[in-house]
Amino acid sequence: MSNRIGWIGLGRMGEAMAKKLIKAGHDVNVWNRTASKAAPLAEAGATIVASKQDLASCQAVFTMVSTTDDLKEVLFAEGGLVAGASKPRMVIDSSSISQEGSAEIRERLEAMGVGYLCAPVSGNAKVAKAGKLLLVASGPKALYEEVEAMLQAMARRVMWVGEGELARVWKIAHNTMFGVVIQNLCEITVMAEKAGIPRHVFLESINDSVVGSMYTRYKTPMLTNLTFDQVTFTPKLLLKDMDLGLGAAKAYGVPMPAAAATRESIARMVGRGYEDIDFAVLLKEMAADSGLELKSENVKMSDGLES
Ligand SMILES: NC(=O)c1ccc[n+]([C@@H]2O[C@H](COP(=O)([O-])OP(=O)(O)OC[C@H]3O[C@@H](n4cnc5c(N)ncnc54)[C@H](OP(=O)(O)O)[C@@H]3O)[C@@H](O)[C@H]2O)c1
Repeated sequence: MSNRIGWIGLGRMGEAMAKKLIKAGHDVNVWNRTASKAAPLAEAGATIVASKQDLASCQAVFTMVSTTDDLKEVLFAEGGLVAGASKPRMVIDSSSISQEGSAEIRERLEAMGVGYLCAPVSGNAKVAKAGKLLLVASGPKALYEEVEAMLQAMARRVMWVGEGELARVWKIAHNTMFGVVIQNLCEITVMAEKAGIPRHVFLESINDSVVGSMYTRYKTPMLTNLTFDQVTFTPKLLLKDMDLGLGAAKAYGVPMPAAAATRESIARMVGRGYEDIDFAVLLKEMAADSGLELKSENVKMSDGLES
């Protein structure tokens, strides 16, 4: 078994995270379904492979794809990473997927002798580029300790929360709050603007209050200047996460009224056809519901993530 590291999935997050591993000096080999997206990685020093099975001789293969079904496909479908005779020693997945799907994937991988760690993250691609992700892992502790240094190369902090799929539950809870906060932030911003407070003034005051956070701060420039084309995370991915949150709430018998209302609002936004746009476009929807026509305030401001 070589020290080669494999990477599958070079979307917004995968590209930024894989680059951190390369920068830390690892021998990173990458595959992406849309081959053209791998080119920037080659420039950064990665080796591009032609098929997923070319990564089967790697010590560890990281995956960062969209949904549970996508992860199953890249692993087990024809031509999948573990569908051939040779297998990697372990798979480390950072996609935001369901707990049940993750447990099924663990069972299948472990039955083949392949170790499996869940390693979801908090932060968008810009946060990843700035080296400020939080990475929360679960699975066998010994496996986590073996790869902890690699995980640290991609994040400002890494944590192990327990065995099995517990990191999935953590991520689902995190992203449920992520949805609820943007919903509420958009609602109150529209209310404040309709009452007469300029948007950037209101948002800056919230950022500096007890309820401000890294999240409200880095969404502020986009909400002020309406730059929703600078996509960090799409409405469709957020809807997937709200559904995962409500699915977990049902499984554990926990009522989540705020998350349920937010889910419907996000679903309506997705239904209105928003595709390749940032989820913060929700502000526009909330404004339209209130008869408010939004205009960019064209204020130069920092999201606190510039390096
Ligand atoms: N963006 C964020 O702020 C953020 C933050 C934390 C976690 N996440 C989670 O991280 C994951 C990736 O997010 P992202 O924003 O990077 O998404 P993205 O930009 O849409 O990238 C998705 C990646 O998955 C690949 N993929 C999807 N389905 C596939 C399939 N069936 N077979 C092979 N490859 C497939 C895509 O390949 P192609 O290039 O060929 O389409 C692409 O490389 C999601 O689970 C998301 O919920 C996102």
